[in-house]
Amino acid sequence: PQTAETKTSAAPASDTIVIGHVGSMTGNEATFGQSSDNGMKLAVEEQNKKNGIKGKKIVLKTYDDQGKPEEAAVAATRLVTQDKVLTFLGEVSSSRSIAMGPVADSNKIPMISNSSTNPKVTKDGDKTRPFVFRVCFIDPFQGTVMAKFAAENKKWKKVAILRDVGNDYSVGLANFFTETFKKLGGDIVDDVSYKAGDQDFKAQLTKLKSKGAEAFYVPGYYTDVALIARQAKELGIKVPLMGGDGWDSEKLYEISKGALDGSFFSNHYSPEDTSPQVKDFIAKYKATYNSVPDAHAVLGYDAANVAFHAMETAKELTGPAIREEVEKTKDFPGVSGKITLNKDHNADKPAVVIGIEKNAPKYAATISP
Ligand code: PHE
Repeated sequence: PQTAETKTSAAPASDTIVIGHVGSMTGNEATFGQSSDNGMKLAVEEQNKKNGIKGKKIVLKTYDDQGKPEEAAVAATRLVTQDKVLTFLGEVSSSRSIAMGPVADSNKIPMISNSSTNPKVTKDGDKTRPFVFRVCFIDPFQGTVMAKFAAENKKWKKVAILRDVGNDYSVGLANFFTETFKKLGGDIVDDVSYKAGDQDFKAQLTKLKSKGAEAFYVPGYYTDVALIARQAKELGIKVPLMGGDGWDSEKLYEISKGALDGSFFSNHYSPEDTSPQVKDFIAKYKATYNSVPDAHAVLGYDAANVAFHAMETAKELTGPAIREEVEKTKDFPGVSGKITLNKDHNADKPAVVIGIEKNAPKYAATISP
């Protein structure tokens, strides 16, 4: 057995482990970063109560990227070089995770994205990102989910698309939806663009109004989508909107003020899920934050726990050793479902479809890969 002395000399000087988080804590997508951070903090607290990792206390260091990809890359670099993190979590938005990935690879420090769903985050064509992982599904699946829902559940034949052209996530999802919807015999009657932060969408909406679409697919982020919904209503457009996980925020309801009633979006989790894991998590989250967790809170919590598990089982606390363990993640019991990372470092998990009724989210369906 090791003596106390050899133990001391072998152990690193510090009795804490720093984990990083890069998120949009302010800006148009502030709820993404804030909810993720809340979920991560809860995971850190719990793990520290269980004696931390290998006896060391975990400290979470969070940087705000204000919703900007350049800032996200700077923040990731600062976490690695200044704060000496052994793993960092984030981002939510795919464009920002895509900007952060090279920092993980060049410094050999694992990055685990909680909710970025664009394929390019972990693999861009032939270019793989050995140190980048995510705990969520990806958009070819998410786009298929809504295309199937539209074509099979709703029997819609004609859909128009309104996409955010400056957002990798939105562009990807619009393309994946189109591909599957056409395969299922549907018709995309028009496809128009906007840019995040636009205030006036009336020109695009007026153009779409006369095309005979039974629904509009709007895979953007909540602030823009809510404004789009309100302006569509003002223009007398009655068709439902459909979207993806980017809609998930309590602000969606606040800003749209009921204009999204009858609409649908795909997401990672529903608070109406009655599994013990979800019920437990909601109770814990409410006790701490006094609100119902959204998908970011859930995925932030799961991403942190996947990181802790990898650190705990790593043969040493170095980036490459932790990376090896993250890569082995299998059947990890997350709140968002069982997490197994596939060869492209993505999680294959079911998606839920959420309907909006009386300006509130209502679980509609679960769709498995
Ligand atoms: N999936 C989105 C992206 O990749 C981010 C997101 C996830 C937004 C979950 C809301 C909920 O950009």
